[in-house]
Amino acid sequence: MVINLYRKIKRSIQEDGLIVSSSGFLVRSMVGKIDFDRPLRILEIGSGKGPFTREIIHRMSKDSQLDVCEIKTEYNLWIEELIADNPDKHVTLFNGCVTQLLDKPGYYDVIVSSLPLKNFERMNDQNAFLNRVIEGFRFALKEGGIYLQYQYFLSNKADIERIFGKQMDDVDFVPLNILPAFVYSMTK
Ligand SMILES: C[S@@+](CC[C@H](N)C(=O)[O-])C[C@H]1O[C@@H](n2cnc3c(N)ncnc32)[C@H](O)[C@@H]1O
Repeated sequence: MVINLYRKIKRSIQEDGLIVSSSGFLVRSMVGKIDFDRPLRILEIGSGKGPFTREIIHRMSKDSQLDVCEIKTEYNLWIEELIADNPDKHVTLFNGCVTQLLDKPGYYDVIVSSLPLKNFERMNDQNAFLNRVIEGFRFALKEGGIYLQYQYFLSNKADIERIFGKQMDDVDFVPLNILPAFVYSMTK
């Protein structure tokens, strides 16, 4: 039983980059950086069971649009339930790798990412996939749009700054989360 639990936790960290869903403190810290006073096109990536999705849907205006991207179909039920509970909001779930959604230049006002960027590092190809994902964020964001990302241990902050060509606008620390997390804000 203990071995099974250990395997489950190890798989969860390797595949999803986390042990349990993000805390309300982390969700509010990140979503609180979005100005919902105007219509927005929002991309949420790596929704998992939807802690961020729920809060974004709650706060977004009826003339905003939320695209939710999650590679694993096992989380679909959670997101589909949120969509069904909010028929007055424009929310679409995409199953697949986020790179498929980053082909429209300057399309999104806001990108909210829970992607485990650290897991994308592959030294043998000079982090080609990691770079492609961050470059895709920059490409798909409008001028003045905001990219929000949480990470543990300040990881990949330098990669994001290099690709956006500027320093992070803001880095917040949220201790009340498993694990304590840093929230990055990067405007284009
Ligand atoms: C760290 S979990 C975050 C889950 C949830 N947002 C939270 O904070 O509790 C990362 C999520 O990203 C998803 N993911 C990983 N790689 C992805 C990719 N290339 N495209 C879309 N989703 C991906 C995983 O399946 C996982 O659900």
